[in-house]
Amino acid sequence: MGRVRSWMLVVMVMVMVMAVRAERNINRSGGVYWSTAEEEALAQTQTKARDDDTAVADLDADGGFSSLEGMLQWAIGHSDPVQLKETARDVEKLSPTDLSNRQVEIKQLMDELKTPSDAQLMQVAINDLSNSSLSLEDRHRALEELLILVEPIDNANDLNKLGGLVVVIRELDHSDADTRKMAAWVLGKASQNNPIVQKQVLELGALSKLMKMVKSDFAEEATKALYAVSALIRNNVAGQELFYEEAGHLLLQNIMSESIIDIRLRRKAVFLLGDLAECQLENKEKDELPFFSSRIFLKSVVDLTSSADLDLQEKALVALKNLLQLKTTEALVFKDFCGLDGALERLRQQLQDLMVEEEHRDYVMDVERLRSEVHQIFYRKLEKVATGLSDLDCNMFTNCLFDWSYLNKHPVILFDLDSSERQVTRQVPT
Ligand SMILES: *[C@@H]1O[C@H](CO)[C@@H](O)[C@H](O)[C@H]1NC(C)=O
Ligand SMILES: *[C@@H]1O[C@H](CO)[C@@H](O)[C@H](O)[C@H]1NC(C)=O
Repeated sequence: MGRVRSWMLVVMVMVMVMAVRAERNINRSGGVYWSTAEEEALAQTQTKARDDDTAVADLDADGGFSSLEGMLQWAIGHSDPVQLKETARDVEKLSPTDLSNRQVEIKQLMDELKTPSDAQLMQVAINDLSNSSLSLEDRHRALEELLILVEPIDNANDLNKLGGLVVVIRELDHSDADTRKMAAWVLGKASQNNPIVQKQVLELGALSKLMKMVKSDFAEEATKALYAVSALIRNNVAGQELFYEEAGHLLLQNIMSESIIDIRLRRKAVFLLGDLAECQLENKEKDELPFFSSRIFLKSVVDLTSSADLDLQEKALVALKNLLQLKTTEALVFKDFCGLDGALERLRQQLQDLMVEEEHRDYVMDVERLRSEVHQIFYRKLEKVATGLSDLDCNMFTNCLFDWSYLNKHPVILFDLDSSERQVTRQVPT
């Protein structure tokens, strides 16, 4: 905004505010006044603060000023107190007709100067992306803008109405890998925890494109693509069905079993797996998918517990905790084929060693708590085999052995880390 114009705005806002004040006969202490040098100094200090927050806070949802007061605050914050004082004197000399004329002018100016709304900004970015002669740099910038703009759920819901989804999905085919990466990121961000956008993106056929991108050699692209896939199918049964149809489980298994693959990608894969298993647990009426009980598949998860990355190990434990609770997974497969008991024991020792170090101690203890929980669930499952009680039989009794879902949500197993005695207690819901 040019200096002249901003100055005009200040004058006009003041005229208007004073007119309003006079009409309503309001005299608030703490209102705006400018008389002494001391106060001018104060005003200048406040100006700095206003630049940072007030100006932003006073913007309403559409991006304009929420109130005249807000606009005035902003105007004062952006002007010279000495000039303001002079203006104030001039204003007092204005006639009522002048005042009312100024009010009309200021209204027009305010409309003209109004900050564009998020929807307008999104539209600009979308139009840019639709322009095939746009430079790569501008294309990246447009996607970066969208990435921020789609974060609020209302904006994400507007994206399709504005034609944005089609345009962003088209970018998944761009020859530039960074553009594809950014587009995947935007789609993930927009569909995260948003069933409406999930459905729209799935219907536009983006899932299989994203799944192909997960196989990219460019780690950034693969990671963002898997992020988008996760966001699309999380708590979304239709999305998960599509994912399985496209052999998503094999994709995950590949990533989990290849140690040379980027660690971020592996973490995301095992996290998604844990999520899918949990979703299966929550939808008991749905038949469990065969691959969940596949030995090779389960072994690739168990093997992750011996990774050198604690984050990955923790995510593997979460996945195992859910997988162990599925009806179709077999305790003996976990034990004999996957070597889960040995893996859990090695992990226990590793965590105990890590516990000695002060750093990350709380985190290590959290992981140990989780490990201990997995251990308990695993041994319960083994016990059932030993006593000839199948999971199916178990489900016919109420509260057979444990209330698993409760345990799942409230990890209450206490493990005394300083002694080799493991103490397990369980709280009963009140
Ligand atoms: C406005 O209020 C202040 C005290 O808050 C008082 O000192 C001042 O005289 C008042 N001005 C008018 C015009 O009423
Ligand atoms: C498309 O982008 C080019 C390069 O930035 C620009 O010159 C042109 O005006 C744009 N076309 C439209 C329709 O916006």
